[in-house]
Amino acid sequence: MFEPLPKLPNDPILGLSIAFRDDPNPDKVDLGVGVYRDASGVTPVMAAVREAEIQLQINETTKAYTPPAGYPGANEAVQALAFGEEHPARQQQRIATVQTPGGCGALRLAAEVIQRAKHGARVWVSTPTWANHVPLLGSAGLELKEYPYYDFERHTLDFDAMMAALNQVPAGDLVLLHASCHNPCGADLSPEQWRRVTELAAERGFVPLIDMAYQGFGEGLEEDAYGPRLMAEQLPEVILAVSFSKNFGLYRERAGALAIVGADAAQTEAIQSQLLSVARGLYSMPPAHGSALVAGIWQSEELRGRWRDELAQMRERIQALRQALVESLGRAVPGRDFGFIARERGMFSFLGLSEAEVARMKADYSIYMTDNSRINVAGLNLDKIDYLSAAIAEVIKGRV
Ligand code: LMR
Repeated sequence: MFEPLPKLPNDPILGLSIAFRDDPNPDKVDLGVGVYRDASGVTPVMAAVREAEIQLQINETTKAYTPPAGYPGANEAVQALAFGEEHPARQQQRIATVQTPGGCGALRLAAEVIQRAKHGARVWVSTPTWANHVPLLGSAGLELKEYPYYDFERHTLDFDAMMAALNQVPAGDLVLLHASCHNPCGADLSPEQWRRVTELAAERGFVPLIDMAYQGFGEGLEEDAYGPRLMAEQLPEVILAVSFSKNFGLYRERAGALAIVGADAAQTEAIQSQLLSVARGLYSMPPAHGSALVAGIWQSEELRGRWRDELAQMRERIQALRQALVESLGRAVPGRDFGFIARERGMFSFLGLSEAEVARMKADYSIYMTDNSRINVAGLNLDKIDYLSAAIAEVIKGRV
């Protein structure tokens, strides 16, 4: 039966961790998979999470199934975090919400429910976008199209090209947007640009599908949710995939949620029932542990404050690393301007290396990044920065 199936190569992002683990070079640097590391190189369990976990262990009385939409109380936390306490769509009962196995689960669930609503619907994704968007949405049967987003030469968002392309998107198509900390380029829409995309969506009738995997890693918790909140206020339908992997550091717990804003309360109720039915056919119900921690933190003022502080520290550390890298590259490669790295936000930026140069970074210096030269800045450390800059200077020497 399985004869026709060939062995596949490792995942282009997750496979990097395996290659890194097996590399014996003591100077190796892992800038591959998007996980945050602290100054000691560890991806920490946040103190607020640790405390919520202790509370959960004391207070949890059962491991019986959760309700189909997930852990009780967690969806209120999801909505409050993503949309704010007072959002009109919440007051109008227009947000269907279910917990999902991570942000990936949310995207896949979204794709399946879109399929039910409009078979083979078209989703426009930015060039570039996160590599895993393609299988997550495409495998459900949606058709993927691309709109220009990042100018690789100038290292900026090409907003005019983006708007010109979106201006051709027909009503009923979907447009995938990154709420903040664009993965893989780190170039985000400004509030003004969000307003213009929202106006265009209203005018043309396309539906935003927003991936919010880094809330709090860019400018702040509120700022990073500006786009989704605005769109949910001004448009009849918005789909929001939420991940708690990064901002709660819950990667392996697979904690996330899908929130769909419907045109009115009745439609939203129908969407909620469809979400539960799709989830039942995929995995029945979401894992509870991560969502229970998010809910526990959100419901305790003390833990919530502690979590916000820890998140702010992570955000500031990434920004400091970005700044230090720009300064170090300024010394190592005097002829080139890497200032864009400090202007970009979140975990990722492109170094602007060719695939062959990325291969040399790996072979000669044991520095790991995806083939398109995306680096996870949050995986860097101050004591590695000059080593990284020197390696970059060396591999691009011929073309400076
Ligand atoms: C990444 O882009 O590195 C992260 O979002 C992890 C993943 O699942 O790809």
